[in-house]
Amino acid sequence: MNHLDALPANFRWGAATAAYQIEGAASTDGRAPSIWDTFSHTPGKVDNGDTGDTACDHYHRWPQDLDLAASLGLDAYRFSIAWPRVVPLADGRVNAAGLDFYDRLVDGMLERGLTPFPTLYHWDLPQAQQDRGGWPERSTAERFAEYAAVVAERLGDRVRDWCTLNEPLCSSWIGHLEGKMAPGLTDLTAAVRTSYHLHLGHGLAVQALRAAVPGARIGIVNNLSTIEPASQSDADLAAALRADGHINRWWLDPVLGRGYPQDMVDLYGVELPVRDGDLELISAPLDWVGLNYYFRQIVADDPTGPVPNFRQVPGPNPERTAMDWEVHAPGIEELLLRLTEDYGVREIYVTENGSAYRDTVTADGRVDDPERTAYLESHLAACARAVAKGAPLAGYFAWSLLDNFEWAYGYDKRFGLIHVDYDTQARTVKSSGERYAQLIAAHRARA
Ligand code: FCB
Repeated sequence: MNHLDALPANFRWGAATAAYQIEGAASTDGRAPSIWDTFSHTPGKVDNGDTGDTACDHYHRWPQDLDLAASLGLDAYRFSIAWPRVVPLADGRVNAAGLDFYDRLVDGMLERGLTPFPTLYHWDLPQAQQDRGGWPERSTAERFAEYAAVVAERLGDRVRDWCTLNEPLCSSWIGHLEGKMAPGLTDLTAAVRTSYHLHLGHGLAVQALRAAVPGARIGIVNNLSTIEPASQSDADLAAALRADGHINRWWLDPVLGRGYPQDMVDLYGVELPVRDGDLELISAPLDWVGLNYYFRQIVADDPTGPVPNFRQVPGPNPERTAMDWEVHAPGIEELLLRLTEDYGVREIYVTENGSAYRDTVTADGRVDDPERTAYLESHLAACARAVAKGAPLAGYFAWSLLDNFEWAYGYDKRFGLIHVDYDTQARTVKSSGERYAQLIAAHRARA
């Protein structure tokens, strides 16, 4: 039996991207700045001073990029819609040209047999909303739902599969607590309030999508990690519990109907701005849950560090990606089974999984990336093992279709199945992309 035979016959094979990471055209057709434009243009925030101003110029080159996606045999494409293109400013005015772009893009996908999986928020809050207080304020959740309704009304006749938020953990903890992503704050109260209002925005957007798109299939995307204690000491075991709360339970529990984990509410010591009916909105039934998986975390107690007082220690596997992330495929299997068995999730997508390595283009124009290929194969095999044990995994989206702007790391970190030469914008399918295409074709042939 081939190691991927356990994947269901109607498994969706995809790749993912995000607007700010690939589109460029930052001030074209009425797009206004997002918090990532501000952040990336602030000296010292992004490696090498890189910005998303041009990125992969996908805004102009999308037909070619969709052709490439289809040429790999993909049948689904996860992309994100830039709020600052659609409702760029604080006045709520819809920018027709911005919406038209996604209209064309969706038609382009459908013409090529790619099922669109748009994400409504992949971190690019309009700067105008930030100037009004951003996610720490409830009004931002309300504005998000209004924007979601605008998009749903325009694309809902063709788009069935919707994702509200990408990785609210990163927006909250990395953006508002650690300060390493936009908007670059280091404020626990702002971070906790951000997490709450992102969840509320998710709930309100689900409501807006259900109203506008009959039969919509809606999910949320979280990045989760398996957590292991660095030792069996009581202090490290307690740290692991806190880390699990901070990284996993805080993001799953409220959305999946369990409310916010009390141990973490107590630990953060920040009052959640809950109003009547909010928790019901936040936990409204979903059609699927998205898992982004990159690495496990081995944690030790860190009593003098910031709340929640744990630090990550390096994992034992010497295989590491260019991000210095330990390669650990069993983690994806464990998380799929946890979502299935512990949380009772009935449909899961791996909405991102992938690896950065230093790629070189050889003289004959090839990009051979055996490490990324091995990463892809081992993680897909782990997904198939989870399916064999009962995980309702419906599809897999490789991160990423293209090399792109890797946030605070800029263009130096390449995650693509397709190489991008940023000087010429030439695209080259890497050998990992060719391997992915083979695996997809082989799975289809057997299905
Ligand atoms: C995830 C993000 C995605 C990309 C990958 C490497 O956290 O969702 O945009 O940056 O990491």
